[in-house]
Amino acid sequence: MPSFPTTRMRRTRSAPWSRRLVRENTFTADDLIWTMILSDGDAPRTPVPSMLGVDRVNIDELVKDAKRAQALGIPAIAVFPNINPKYKDAAGSEAANPNGIVPVAVKAVKDAVPDLGIIVDVALDPYTDHGHDGLLHKGEILNDPTLDALKEIGVMLARAGADIVAPSDMMDGRIGAVRGALDDAGYSDVMMMSYAAKYASGFYGPYRDAIGSATALQGDKATYQMDPANTDEALREVALDIEEGADMVMVKPGMPYLDICRRVKDSFGVPTYAFQVSGEYAMISAAAQNGWLDEQRVIMESLMCFKRAGCDGVLTYFAPKVAAWLAKG
Ligand code: PBG
Repeated sequence: MPSFPTTRMRRTRSAPWSRRLVRENTFTADDLIWTMILSDGDAPRTPVPSMLGVDRVNIDELVKDAKRAQALGIPAIAVFPNINPKYKDAAGSEAANPNGIVPVAVKAVKDAVPDLGIIVDVALDPYTDHGHDGLLHKGEILNDPTLDALKEIGVMLARAGADIVAPSDMMDGRIGAVRGALDDAGYSDVMMMSYAAKYASGFYGPYRDAIGSATALQGDKATYQMDPANTDEALREVALDIEEGADMVMVKPGMPYLDICRRVKDSFGVPTYAFQVSGEYAMISAAAQNGWLDEQRVIMESLMCFKRAGCDGVLTYFAPKVAAWLAKG
């Protein structure tokens, strides 16, 4: 490239039409996965205090939101449950209950909006009284016995009609285990999105409030979720999950981990998603609420950055807001 003054980078930036012509990435409603909090409480909607604008909703409201998602052109939703403590135990046994709130909600959504994709976590943490994603024995999270529980939960959720099951626990071998169980049970068409590079992050704080596992959590998740200091390890995690049968992989959290998104996309070229988690939502919302950031501008910028980093889509609590803005043009 010739240097200045022959080359002037500002030339193509000079007008809106030329900026549009040289734009490298776009963000559309196709890139959105709307993350929703489902509650087994009596109230139709209860605000989550640390997540302004996000409610825990009952099944009827979830179905309404699912219809809204479809009307807004959002391809898929992801549902996370807030479980009454009286249903929690050490083994998280309620997670496998075929009449539990998640499978019942999945059926209700699939009946009402069959063309909307529905993603559900395969996870124990909303259901365990200790708040961990695995079975706990004498202070240790047991890997292989947890896999048996995850297999059962995955098959139960597929039977309920989930389109994508998403193990979010970070046990070793869980993608292969759940894939095998799904195939054996006749659900070879059910997709798997792996929480492949999931970090032991402080940014999940508001989520743990939202699902009610914050007060329960004993210790932290550092023995199974990744160390925020590591990058190469994320590539090994993703490689294993792809080999075990993941159709899509996820990096989580999102914004502070864009370097991981880029390396994953470059290394594997598989469908790659970022989870813009509760803490990221809380930061942007709180600053916008105070008038310290321009809400729409910053949210749209944050989402475009995921595309620039190589992501095919983003799980975000901002999805309905963003889809509405996009529809307005
Ligand atoms: C746990 C799970 C977590 C989130 C989704 N699934 C939190 C955790 O690992 O403690 C976080 C979502 C968010 O922060 O928005 N299985």
